[in-house]
Amino acid sequence: MTTARIRQMAANGEKIAMLTSYDYTLARLADEAGVDVLLVGDSASNVVCGNQYTLPITTDEMIFLTRGVVRAAQHAMVVVDMPFGSYQVSEEEAVRNAIRMVKESGCDAVKLEGGEEILPSIKHIISAGVPVCGHLGLTPQSVNQFGGYGLRAKEEAEAEKLLHDARLLAEAGCFCIVLEKIPAELARRVTEAVAPWHCPTIGIGAGNGTNGQVLVMHDMLGLNTGFKPKFLRYFAHLAEEVQQAVKAYTEAVKTADFPNTEESY
Ligand code: KIV
Repeated sequence: MTTARIRQMAANGEKIAMLTSYDYTLARLADEAGVDVLLVGDSASNVVCGNQYTLPITTDEMIFLTRGVVRAAQHAMVVVDMPFGSYQVSEEEAVRNAIRMVKESGCDAVKLEGGEEILPSIKHIISAGVPVCGHLGLTPQSVNQFGGYGLRAKEEAEAEKLLHDARLLAEAGCFCIVLEKIPAELARRVTEAVAPWHCPTIGIGAGNGTNGQVLVMHDMLGLNTGFKPKFLRYFAHLAEEVQQAVKAYTEAVKTADFPNTEESY
């Protein structure tokens, strides 16, 4: 999977399936199941590390997680989130960290949150030969500025800024843009607005008018039952299965039923 193929899929009207991934084992299963893009999201901060926000995760930690996903990916493209603090300080630091991501993790592309305010950094990263995925709408690294994880761009002024930002990102050469938690009608308008640059949109909580969809793997597998926003569909209920398996194992150990003679050397 390449950036050219991602752009081509959108041009052909073929939907793009992106899923987050943070480890070798689940990445291999997702890759074999045919997902197009594996995103090593900074949601690893929540899902893997148990933090409330995405803000604490570091570049080193993202690189460590991404290596496992890259080893697993035979077909899918691997995109990695540049974490908070790794691209906001200066253009130079943004390029240096994007290059570190590619050299040290083997990822195919990076994702950055934001529009016009980070455009110079995005342009420099692309000029250095690193493909960039944009991210607009609800950008969790700005949670303290937003004051929560609510729907973004409900008002016309914010919607217009988002449209403006999307055009700038597409024109700068982003190979796709994630649109998070915005009204479906606005996501459809953005998708049409950036189509002339062959820049697909990938939605999460942005309706069905985007060129593709992304979900957090642990959420869609039903591993994280405490989180059920309207946009999330459970495609499995693994939390129950995992807990049943662990209960059965614990019971088998405590009753000396496990291991039996066939399971012993
Ligand atoms: O970090 C992440 O998981 C993301 C997706 C929700 C798009 O950015």
